[in-house]
Amino acid sequence: MGRSRWSQVLPAVAALGAGAVVLSACGSNSLKEGAGGSTAQPSAGAGSAKIALLVPQSGTYAPLGADMEQGFRFYLEQKNGKLGGKTVDLQVVDEGAGPETGVPAAQKLAQQSDLSAVVGIVNSGVALGVRDVFDQAKLPLVLANAGADAITGARKSDYVWRTSFSNSQVSGAMGSYVAEKTKGGSVYLIAPDYAAGKEFLSGFEKTFTAAGGKVAGQELPPFGKTSNYQPYLAKIKQSGATGVFAFFAGSEAVSFTKQYKELGLAGSIPLYSSGFLTEGGVLKASGAAAAGIESSLHYSDQLDTPRNKEFVQAYAAKYSEPPTVYAVQAYDAAQVLDKALEKGTTGDQVVEGLRGVGTVDSPRGPWTFDESHNPKQAFYLRKVQQGPGGTLVNAVVRELASP
Ligand code: BEZ
Repeated sequence: MGRSRWSQVLPAVAALGAGAVVLSACGSNSLKEGAGGSTAQPSAGAGSAKIALLVPQSGTYAPLGADMEQGFRFYLEQKNGKLGGKTVDLQVVDEGAGPETGVPAAQKLAQQSDLSAVVGIVNSGVALGVRDVFDQAKLPLVLANAGADAITGARKSDYVWRTSFSNSQVSGAMGSYVAEKTKGGSVYLIAPDYAAGKEFLSGFEKTFTAAGGKVAGQELPPFGKTSNYQPYLAKIKQSGATGVFAFFAGSEAVSFTKQYKELGLAGSIPLYSSGFLTEGGVLKASGAAAAGIESSLHYSDQLDTPRNKEFVQAYAAKYSEPPTVYAVQAYDAAQVLDKALEKGTTGDQVVEGLRGVGTVDSPRGPWTFDESHNPKQAFYLRKVQQGPGGTLVNAVVRELASP
């Protein structure tokens, strides 16, 4: 499934200097079956629960949405289609390319009185735009990617929970390491111009400058509107920076990484990033251009633990590809709902259940919800290098100090 979705994205991002990337949605059967409606599951009744999965099926982040659906379904199938003992009726809805599609889709879901929870959302802009919708509807939202800091900070809600990360947590974990590596030099920052991009850069800058690092400059290319990073990279090259810190994900990550190499920056200016730049299908599509990139993330399929090894083996046996962080975050969303739905299927019963989840036995390592409903978890320093089979992998170098 993952191979076909990335082979559709690849030709669109290969050429330098092209205009906006035309993106294709996941071509998998399961996505097509799920798009915008219920799959062939029993409808909600006494022993059942209706859950909506709101993930992008179009736009820059469509492949991430496909991974999330796969991860959620993987857990559900392991539990014979039941969570908390209830047969799950799963409705998959397209988040689209950003808030202009994701917010109305969430508003429509919030009007459905028979839902026990909504899971998903990749884009921080969408998450910020729907926070009040779920809070007012008293409908639990389990964010399985979007990292908007405020959601589990100043704007936390009883009804909004997260099984992924907060943006500044991921990039903040990298700051002191990069300061140490680039001692005496300065680092250029680049990310797409929207909520998540800005938070990734400010989270990095905070811990990086606190550890003595200097910032050479910052670029915020428009999100979802360009695949041409040449003007930004030319500026970075001329700046004299001795390192670059970047956040990009999905098809933008492939375009950026390939052009970083094509314009001769790879090999002369080390590229550091949040792990989304080299995750899953992105790494495969970027290929040799990604070699040597160091990143921070709360997961790698290379994690050497019995729990992860067993998970990777079972997942790869089913889907013929290793799991990604997006799949794991959605798998964990299914895990926490499995416990929460034991309390019942109304919004308040599910929230009561989420409060009592305790330690989640995740492939990323055990984690718990903090008081703001964000995971308390480990972050890893990863480096792209050749794995045992000759393919590029995110090797785990060591654990990083959490910011
Ligand atoms: C975000 O918008 O929060 C986001 C999107 C893709 C990867 C990571 C974070």
